[in-house]
Amino acid sequence: MQSKKLKTIVDTDWFVHDRFGMFIHFGLYSLPARHEWIKNIECISEEKYDKYFKYFNPDMLDVRDWVKRAKKAGMKYAVLTTKHHEGFCLFDSKYSDYTVMNTPYGKDIVKEFVDACREVGLKVGLYHSLIDWHHPDFTIDWLHPRRNDKDAYEQNQGRDMAKYREYLFNQVREIMTNYGKIDILWFDFSYTDKNWGSLCPWEDAKDWMKGKGREDWDAENLVKMIRELQPDIIINDRTGILQDITTPEQSAIKYGVFDKETGEPLVWEACHTFSGSWGYHRDEQTWKSPTMLIQLLINIVSCGGNLIMNIGPTSRGYLDKRAESALGVYEEWMKYNDRSIYGCGKADAQFEAPEGCKLTQSNDGKRLYIHLFEYPFKKLEMANMADKVDYAQFLHDGSEILYNKMPIRPAGVLTKYAEHDETTLYFNLPEVKPDVVVPVIEVFLK
Ligand code: GLC
Repeated sequence: MQSKKLKTIVDTDWFVHDRFGMFIHFGLYSLPARHEWIKNIECISEEKYDKYFKYFNPDMLDVRDWVKRAKKAGMKYAVLTTKHHEGFCLFDSKYSDYTVMNTPYGKDIVKEFVDACREVGLKVGLYHSLIDWHHPDFTIDWLHPRRNDKDAYEQNQGRDMAKYREYLFNQVREIMTNYGKIDILWFDFSYTDKNWGSLCPWEDAKDWMKGKGREDWDAENLVKMIRELQPDIIINDRTGILQDITTPEQSAIKYGVFDKETGEPLVWEACHTFSGSWGYHRDEQTWKSPTMLIQLLINIVSCGGNLIMNIGPTSRGYLDKRAESALGVYEEWMKYNDRSIYGCGKADAQFEAPEGCKLTQSNDGKRLYIHLFEYPFKKLEMANMADKVDYAQFLHDGSEILYNKMPIRPAGVLTKYAEHDETTLYFNLPEVKPDVVVPVIEVFLK
């Protein structure tokens, strides 16, 4: 249970309560359909990459469908890429021609997205890449698609990051001004970490090719400007300055996320993909199973975090069958079990998760949820629970779960187990696992 308010700059209560969101990565990279970093991975030239700009025309795009599916899947907020590292803008901008307005599609997709979110009742998030591999003043570094050009150093002499920063500020001001109230701003990402520098292709280029971070973005002033425009907005940590939420990515969280200096628990959101790539990837086969999807969400909430799951629409604009089916897995489970997610978080330390189970607890402390990752044979043993339970039921169908201080034998005769102790409680379960990916016992505490 979230025992105390966590330090953030703005009120994140709604975010912590809602727990579950949708990420949407959509851009020119949806055409090559083999990873949103394709320009970096294949060092694609501007000329070649412009083909995707020329043919960007999501003729089957229905942004309402995206957000309706998010809502049905139990997601409470959605975050759309306004511009990814490729530099292409899904919004109308005074400061660039490299926008959706100048493609065959010709309409402001960010506008369509914010309107659709508000129509269906989702909070609105915008992702904005600090990195820009298209802008002529963004200097070539060891992540840039031009990094292997023989004259990369010479190209950099004509590039001016001060001009890029002005562009970055101008566009962030546009998306913070022209689309109404925005609830989340999801920046991506700072990479001054020296370990990455070891990937630098040229030994003698380690300096001029080094990664970019808070100074390169003028992050302090960027955030200051945003807060003047959108006082309640939640900002993440990827400018290089932690703001309201920290964003562990594609990782298994074990205990939660804490401030490195103070050890204080932070408000955090794990971001994951259904299959590996953030942008639509036609040939990717590493799609998470239904069990992985549901256990991922439960595990993250049991550690006190949020989960944002990513979809990458096809370049025609629709969600492919794999994405639809993955969202359907969440829809089916959340329909009956969302009470163990919304308004819940890490259980009090007094509760010890039984083997093969994950716990969440309601923020008011009154309800404990036991998620059965492994289904026990006929009884679930839980230490230190005796005298704490007022009533218990399966959450999915509200059917009572009987419990005893000692396991009931078939004849109903109570048998004292040698290793039995007075604090253990036995929940008596049906022999056959209910038809639920992860069954949940809802415990009403005394
Ligand atoms: C990583 C990926 C980037 C993606 C982001 C989302 O930074 O490289 O493509 O947009 O994660 O969290």
